[in-house]
Amino acid sequence: MASKFASLGFLVLSMAIISSAMAKEYSFASNLDPKVLRLKEEKLTHFHMYWHDVVGGTKPTSVAVLPGLSNSTLFGLVNMFDNPLTVGPDPKSQLVGKSQGLYASAAQQEIGLLMAMNFAFTYGKYNGSSITILGRNPILNTVREMPVVGGSGRFRFARGYAEARTHFFNATSLDAIVEYNIYVLHY
Ligand SMILES: *[C@@H]1O[C@H](CO)[C@@H](O)[C@H](O)[C@H]1NC(C)=O
Ligand SMILES: *[C@@H]1O[C@H](CO)[C@@H](O)[C@H](O)[C@H]1NC(C)=O
Ligand SMILES: *[C@@H]1O[C@H](CO)[C@@H](O)[C@H](O)[C@H]1NC(C)=O
Repeated sequence: MASKFASLGFLVLSMAIISSAMAKEYSFASNLDPKVLRLKEEKLTHFHMYWHDVVGGTKPTSVAVLPGLSNSTLFGLVNMFDNPLTVGPDPKSQLVGKSQGLYASAAQQEIGLLMAMNFAFTYGKYNGSSITILGRNPILNTVREMPVVGGSGRFRFARGYAEARTHFFNATSLDAIVEYNIYVLHY
């Protein structure tokens, strides 16, 4: 009789140990002082540059990887690009980086692109840093605004927006030069 009670007690005790082990919380997040990452004043930087979408010719930098429907909005078209970014509209002006990403025709009733791209800088103090832009680009509008959703290197914690204006478009080759004004808050 006594041993029955003892084994029952042992069972209750071991169940209590098992359930407390199961309730153990693993810590994978902690509060951090921003000083630890050496974050100081947030600053605003304005970038002005030109984006070259070279679709035609023998050395395209922008290639259709999905064709899209053959109607006026080319719905479904996807282009992958590695486009030069220069300080002036002339493609031979100083290269400051590459805009790498894709645009997709995402609107059925108008020409509207979804842009998903990184501006990867290779010049001056921004060399090695990048800005990520994700947004809507109705290319026939005079000004298109797209959010800056983040960045790397000097652009950690970045936020802001980009304004795009078509500077040149060749309807035969479909090449385009687009002026970008980008306003970025970063540390
Ligand atoms: C293009 O095709 C899609 C799918 O069939 C359709 O919904 C859309 O209205 C078409 N766009 C135009 C401008 O005809
Ligand atoms: C940019 O950084 C890379 C890698 O650190 C280096 O090889 C290259 O020379 C730099 N370019 C400029 C223009 O500073
Ligand atoms: C437009 O592209 C066509 C085909 O590549 C080319 O022959 C023509 O010179 C270009 N026009 C301009 C103004 O660049």
